[in-house]
Amino acid sequence: MSDSPPTAPVSDSQGEQLKPFRIQLAERINRLPQYVLARVNALLHQKRKAGQDVIDLGMGNPSEPPHPLVIEKLAEAAHEHDLHGYGKANGILNLRREVAAKYFKKFGVRLDPETEVIVTIGSKEGFSHMCLAVMGAGETAIIPAPYFPAHMYAIVMASGNVITLEVSDSEKFLSNVAFTCQHMTPKPKLLVVNYPHNPSSKTIDPEFFVELVKLARRYDFMVISDFAYADVAFDGYQPPSFLAAPGAKDVGVEFTTMSKGYNMAGWRVGYCCGNAEMVRALGIIKGYYDYGLFQAIQIASIVALRHTDAAVEAQSLIYQARRDLVLDGLSSTVGSEAWNSRDLKSRPH
Ligand SMILES: Cc1ncc(COP(=O)(O)O)c(C=O)c1O
Repeated sequence: MSDSPPTAPVSDSQGEQLKPFRIQLAERINRLPQYVLARVNALLHQKRKAGQDVIDLGMGNPSEPPHPLVIEKLAEAAHEHDLHGYGKANGILNLRREVAAKYFKKFGVRLDPETEVIVTIGSKEGFSHMCLAVMGAGETAIIPAPYFPAHMYAIVMASGNVITLEVSDSEKFLSNVAFTCQHMTPKPKLLVVNYPHNPSSKTIDPEFFVELVKLARRYDFMVISDFAYADVAFDGYQPPSFLAAPGAKDVGVEFTTMSKGYNMAGWRVGYCCGNAEMVRALGIIKGYYDYGLFQAIQIASIVALRHTDAAVEAQSLIYQARRDLVLDGLSSTVGSEAWNSRDLKSRPH
């Protein structure tokens, strides 16, 4: 990508020739490739236009709508006169309380909704702005490989450097993190983890996070856990929360989202929870960039968190059945042993 060519010569109404003009973008734009899913979507559109029957495994868009209770609450709240003004960048306190209550109920994690929870405009917005809050020019972050594009490019946009470490073997991942920290000067400042992992589906058990927190303390790096698939799990597997590991709140934060389990991807509701200093810093950045989510959406999200647990579980079962169908189909057509595995414990695609 490069700057635009200069405009063609133009004259004003008096016939005076105006200087050609060139749009000169910031260097950071040149460091960003076109978003991969935008490329996939363009390809999809092209194939469908040509009449081809394409199964879309690109964007992790929910296939079902949100729970009717949630939609009804949104409609009801949208009629309230006083909910249409600017909100708070941090999100309404009652929603932050509900998020804290869910963390306690599901993971036994205690969070102070005033200081340790912030509402984000989807977890992608929160993650990107958190990178601006914690990464400085030339500082290094470790991210999982293969990577979800935002993990790489939010750090690039924050002028940071990125090291990618392969996730398929979690013990090896941890020892590679330690090795990188021992041999790099200056040491990495941030580690991003994402379990269940997109795009590999790699999952871990709670002990992984216990070890990770120890490493973070030993080598002084902050942790961001992207927990986008917290609510989408198969075969009775419960993805563990990073924040449940002892001392996790001292070293990092976790992002969760309503996009996947609650079928609310377009509503753009996410949360960042954990270390109060990092949450505060994200709030400062957001205070300059946005006024948070439409409050009616936040109120409907409270209803979703409080009343629709059963629907979230049912949604995972739908994805699990689709996974089984795909794996059975691949086993009978490709016949590979690899497809016989039921090791894909998470992810809707
Ligand atoms: C790993 C990962 N993180 C974050 C997101 C984005 O989530 P949100 O809709 O909350 O921005 C996705 C969406 O596909 C994802 O796969």
